[in-house]
Amino acid sequence: MGTMNGKRTLMCVAGARPNFMKLAPLIRQLSASESIEPLLVHTGQHYDDKMSGAFFRDLGLPEPDHYLNAGGGSHAQQTAEIMKRFEPVLLERRPAGVVVVGDVNSTVACALVASKLHTPVVHVESGLRSFDRSMPEEINRIVTDAISDVLLVSEPSGITNLRSEGVDESRIHFVGNLMIDSLRHHLEQARTLGVAAKLGMEAGRYGVVTMHRPANVDDLGSLSEILEALSDISRDLPLVFPVHPRTRGKLEETRLWEHADIRLVDPLGYLEFLSLMSESAAVLTDSGGIQEETTVLGVPCLTLRNNTERPVTIEQGTNRLAGTRKDGILAAWRELRNDGNAGQVPELWDGRAAERCVAVLERYLAAGVPTSAVR
Ligand code: UD1
Repeated sequence: MGTMNGKRTLMCVAGARPNFMKLAPLIRQLSASESIEPLLVHTGQHYDDKMSGAFFRDLGLPEPDHYLNAGGGSHAQQTAEIMKRFEPVLLERRPAGVVVVGDVNSTVACALVASKLHTPVVHVESGLRSFDRSMPEEINRIVTDAISDVLLVSEPSGITNLRSEGVDESRIHFVGNLMIDSLRHHLEQARTLGVAAKLGMEAGRYGVVTMHRPANVDDLGSLSEILEALSDISRDLPLVFPVHPRTRGKLEETRLWEHADIRLVDPLGYLEFLSLMSESAAVLTDSGGIQEETTVLGVPCLTLRNNTERPVTIEQGTNRLAGTRKDGILAAWRELRNDGNAGQVPELWDGRAAERCVAVLERYLAAGVPTSAVR
């Protein structure tokens, strides 16, 4: 129990788009481990090919060992459905531990199931805090960290936050950023795709927009405010906007983008988006991960939020908080145009985070976690 081919099994959970690029390098590295065998569970939180399958192909992720097909719904419905479907899989496979990543509903759902079954939980991207509990992801981060046994941290603020919450030092491991492992691994390949040219854009002469936070896109008033700012900005710099499924319906209601130089496209695959971002002059986004990717690419980023759980991207990287009001966004845009901001790459965002994660996990499992902690 908890072993396969004489190795301890670690069950890695993928659910939504931003999980996939963090898991791919980890699974690749775990597969090379002499003492650990990875298993992959996909909860099905994201299910469209453009949100999931395309990422598995681009990132070279293996077929999941288990696909839970949990789908969407309200937060309670989605989280509960994932929990109900994950529990029997965990009881059947009885892994030595469960790895959850990031802050989506799949993360907290599977961490809860595992911890109640006394299976050690490993949280990748632990300790990030926006200190804004109106964000569903903040609740997911707080709950997941509180019940995780191994906390793998991507940036210094994660260590500070966990310490201030009283987490024992022995559980905190600063390993760096797995998402940046994926970026470094795929950048050269992505650059050959020339996605901007295919969209009729000139390298360095366009901006990229992404938006999917409920606070920004679910309410027509908030969305219109941001779109008005984007329309003005598009007179300086044409914008390409790959549209998340959550955002599409509302955008169609506003039609505010119609008279602006904003090109709406379907969600892009991992490599296509990396290609588009890497040749852009600026990125405007409410995503968490894109704040990190632009920092490494050296592309200026305006974050369409009032806070970030990734402060290192502001302190050291290319990111600025622009807020969600038209005037604020335009003021931040003017600053960006005047100053640019070269930024630097944060510590341990070097493409080798997976190696450090696996070293921590090998030590942790060797130190005598029960062969099957599952009751
Ligand atoms: C989720 C995460 C968010 C992450 C985002 C990245 C939570 C609480 N939120 O938000 O942190 O930044 O993913 O994309 O976990 N839909 C489709 N096809 C899909 C997936 C979703 O059409 O493949 C539509 C459905 O209508 C669904 C809605 O998008 O109900 C929202 O999906 P959901 O997973 O609930 O949240 P996201 O907004 O994608």
